[in-house]
Order: sequence, then structure tokens, then C-alpha cells
Amino acid sequence: MKRTAFVALAALALTSSAQLIPFFTDRKQPAAPGARTPDRLNQKPMAGNQLNNPGIQLPPSNTDNDNPSSGPPTGDVILSDVLGTQPSIQIFAGFTLDIPSVSSRLNNGNQNTTVLAPLNRAITSLPRKPWEDAREYAALGAEAYSGSEGEDRAQRNLRRFAEAHIVPVSPWKEGEKVQSLGGGTVWWEKRDGKTLVMPGSVEVEGVVSRVANGEVWVVKEVVNYT
Ligand SMILES: *[C@@H]1O[C@H](CO)[C@@H](O)[C@H](O)[C@H]1NC(C)=O
Repeated sequence: MKRTAFVALAALALTSSAQLIPFFTDRKQPAAPGARTPDRLNQKPMAGNQLNNPGIQLPPSNTDNDNPSSGPPTGDVILSDVLGTQPSIQIFAGFTLDIPSVSSRLNNGNQNTTVLAPLNRAITSLPRKPWEDAREYAALGAEAYSGSEGEDRAQRNLRRFAEAHIVPVSPWKEGEKVQSLGGGTVWWEKRDGKTLVMPGSVEVEGVVSRVANGEVWVVKEVVNYT
């Protein structure tokens, strides 16, 4: 997992100041002409992503249609363009590049997706790395993730982690039960002013991107992936 570790470390070096847009924006409200989110447009995907994935596209810097609060997106900015631009979710964004089932989905303009992107600190505070499994440590010992079989194991676990955070629907309506790419059933509801992804009551901090093929929701904890 050298690449993943590199991405994670690179991400940790960045500050985590997410720019959140309100969870519920009035999509019928037209944006002021020329309205945009200048800070977000100026952010570049981190160097690590580009090293790992030289084909990654930079978000266009001269369009209005990636302003997430300006109504239904009409442009061709897609999830794979924007996921790497939020420092507070860089670790998860890096993982998605390593998992072909996820990266190809985010890169597909014809399939909508709601990405539940955990904050960096939600991932770094897990008792184990997302690609580590206590059962495998118990069975195989400290070498569980060494060598090529170990790498395969880690890759499989990371895939399970990433896919649990990919909801293959957008817009995603309140209460709508959907199977994540990982196979678990998830839905969301409002409670005490909070938006919670169920069944784990994972709080949504906000929506950071709304683009042609879906939305990026930042979540404060990881979604159950075991
Ligand atoms: C996909 O997302 C776009 C943009 O939000 C929306 O207009 C469209 O209806 C969605 N398509 C489906 C099949 O949900």
C-alpha cells in the first residue's frame, strides 16, 4: 500500500478547511450572473494525485457551472474533477483513485453518484487503517499486509471501505433506501437539525460539490464497511 500511504501522508500535510455549501440550497433560486466560488476554483488537486494518476483532469477554471448553489448543474464538470479539490477529504479522495470500480464510476458522466466522503480526521482516528482487518491480523500476524498477497488483501479491504461510501443515486431523497456500491443498505434522515446517514447515524457536515453526475457529501465519521 505504498501509494495509498503516500497519498494519505500528502493529504495530512494539507490544512483541512472545507468550504461547505448549505446542505439544502434552493435549487430554483437562480444565481447572480457570474456568481462562483472563487476559492474553490483556485484549489488544485494535490500533487500526489497527479503523480499517481497522470491522466487526472484539472477542474476547468473558467466556467460558472460548477458553482454548486447555482441550481441543477448543466455543465460537464463531474465528480472525478472535483473530489480531489477539498483538502478536508483528501485522504478519501486519494483512496478513490486506487479503486477502479469507484474511480470509473466517478469518472462516468452517465451514472449519478452521491459520494459520502469522510473527513480526514474520521479516517486517521480509526483504530486501524481502512485497509487493515483485525481478523486478518489475528489469522496471519504482523505480516498480514506484506508481500504481494498482503497487498492484494489490503487492496480488497480498501475497496470494501471505499465502496461503502459510494451511493449509486443522485439526487438522493430523504428516506430513500439504496444499496451502496459495497452492498450495504443506506438511507438518510433529518433529526434534531442534523442530517444523518443511516443505519449508523453518521452525521453529514455538508455538501461540498454538486456537479453533473452527482454530489459530494462530507461525513464526520466513516460509514460501516465491515
Ligand atoms: C443525474 O443528476 C442530474 C443532475 O443533478 C439530474 O438532472 C438527473 O436527473 C439525474 N439523473 C438521474 C437518472 O437521476
